[in-house]
Amino acid sequence: MKAIVLAGGYATRLRPISYVIPKLLFPVAGKPMIYWTLDLLKKFQVDEVVLAVNYLAEDLRKAVGDEYRGMRIRFSLETSPLGTAGPIKLASKMTRLKRTFIVMNGDIITNIDFNEMLRRHKSSKAEITDALREVQNPSRFGVVELDVTSRIIRFVEKPSKADAPSRLINAGIYIIEPSVLNRIPSDRKVSLEREVFPVLARRGKLEGFTLLDYWFDIGNSSDYRKANFALAKKICGRSKLRLGKHANAKNLKVTPPMLIGRNTTIGSEANLGPNTVLGKNVLVGKRVRISNSIIFDHVNIGEKSIVTGAIVASNSMIGKGVRIEQGAIISPNVSIRDGVRVGKGAVIHPYKEITQHISAWTQVM
Ligand code: GTP
Repeated sequence: MKAIVLAGGYATRLRPISYVIPKLLFPVAGKPMIYWTLDLLKKFQVDEVVLAVNYLAEDLRKAVGDEYRGMRIRFSLETSPLGTAGPIKLASKMTRLKRTFIVMNGDIITNIDFNEMLRRHKSSKAEITDALREVQNPSRFGVVELDVTSRIIRFVEKPSKADAPSRLINAGIYIIEPSVLNRIPSDRKVSLEREVFPVLARRGKLEGFTLLDYWFDIGNSSDYRKANFALAKKICGRSKLRLGKHANAKNLKVTPPMLIGRNTTIGSEANLGPNTVLGKNVLVGKRVRISNSIIFDHVNIGEKSIVTGAIVASNSMIGKGVRIEQGAIISPNVSIRDGVRVGKGAVIHPYKEITQHISAWTQVM
């Protein structure tokens, strides 16, 4: 089976980190987002994955390469973003899509059962089966109305809470018949939800498949944190901490859940967690405190620093006695001098050298 992964968005809500790191390479609970998707697809005998790329395509290509666990990986490059359906049409020019295939947004982490979804798809004779997710407040999403047999009869984009026909939203995962390719115009931006779904819904060819499994949509930094912490909890299970190979951590206090990546070294008397994910090759000094935070790979954090509820991206150097407060975002390749305080919600753009205190909610560009 073939799969197309939509991986070409600008990820504006994850700026400034996404200026330099493609969203699909953001680490989530110990591995870049794209590998959660590839591992999922591998479980269901997918043998070829087309990554539909545009922004920062080359970084993604370099990181992923052309093969992963026996699956062929191909890159379909858009010269400008083609939306959600346009990339499927473009991919069909690079690979033969003669059989039923999977399409999914690249920024979703889920353990969906594709076998079950495929069974439903086949028995319903739909042209597209759309995975659906129930949420409390559907107004940020595309919301569906189903008939009693799970056919989708209507699709409403971002309705007000009162106008929402249900609490079931489009989860960004589809099983598609090749016949759909004829419904997508070439060479322009096309929206699956706005241009293809309504036609199929009118013809009774759009099926809904409600997800009972876990599903995280990683759109903004708050969702990104939530996904990391929830998955860290799953990975830790009943243990306090999961330690990567060759990681070195002695004499530390841990509050679970806590993930420590490969080759990471923690100084003595550090106090880590809860909800903390440290990447690979991170150096944490003595008596450092980190909680509710995500630290990417190759970060140094000097002794006695305190990091609370923050994201610190790759290759950043945090001095000694630094305080990084709730909601702060430190981009890649930032250097912060000893003793500096980065206030709540402050955002530091890539490659900045910070030598003075940064007030709350400031952007350093
Ligand atoms: P925001 O700018 O923050 O909304 O993020 P985004 O650009 O990633 O958009 P969104 O979250 O709606 O995208 C969902 C998924 O579709 C992500 O995996 C994107 O990479 C992908 N995507 C969005 N637009 C395009 C596009 O025009 N082309 C391709 N190939 N993928 C896209």
